[in-house]
Amino acid sequence: MNKVLEIKNLSKKYHTKDGEITAISNINMDVYEKEFISLVGSSGCGKSTLLNIIASLDEQSSGELHFMKDNFRIGYMFQSDCLFPWLTIYENALLGLKIKKELTKERETYVLNLLRKYNLYEFKDKYPSCLSGGMKQRVG
Ligand SMILES: Nc1ncnc2c1ncn2[C@@H]1O[C@H](COP(=O)(O)OP(=O)(O)OP(=O)(O)O)[C@@H](O)[C@H]1O
Ligand SMILES: [Mg+2]
Repeated sequence: MNKVLEIKNLSKKYHTKDGEITAISNINMDVYEKEFISLVGSSGCGKSTLLNIIASLDEQSSGELHFMKDNFRIGYMFQSDCLFPWLTIYENALLGLKIKKELTKERETYVLNLLRKYNLYEFKDKYPSCLSGGMKQRVG
């Protein structure tokens, strides 16, 4: 199997008004194509921190992260749903494409089909406050 991601001695410290917090320390990990990996650990051990760095939403304090392919695409479902409460389910689902100016009729159809697949189609014109926690996660 091909290696897709290499993580070497990755550490992250957060600087807060109460001092420095080491969230992760010297993580080493390789990820291979088609691998299914679970990160398991107690609350606060740094799982989200690591995923945020892999998704380029945050930066490591030290260490290295190498994606083996250019234009590597990452899908990331956040721990909290992060939906905008003033947008409908359909508008939330289209938002990423809209921001990137990549929305086409074909992609709109694709998104509608995904909403059907995840049993959300009948809620597409509702707002997040009308959905259960699990439904919001699926929209995310
Ligand atoms: N933005 C931040 N500023 C300061 N400290 C943070 C920040 N985000 C996370 N931390 C701290 O970093 C550590 C790791 O947090 P993280 O959210 O990565 O844990 P987690 O493993 O995802 O926990 P959980 O299972 O509860 O989701 C914790 O001690 C947390 O308090
Ligand atoms: Mg977390």
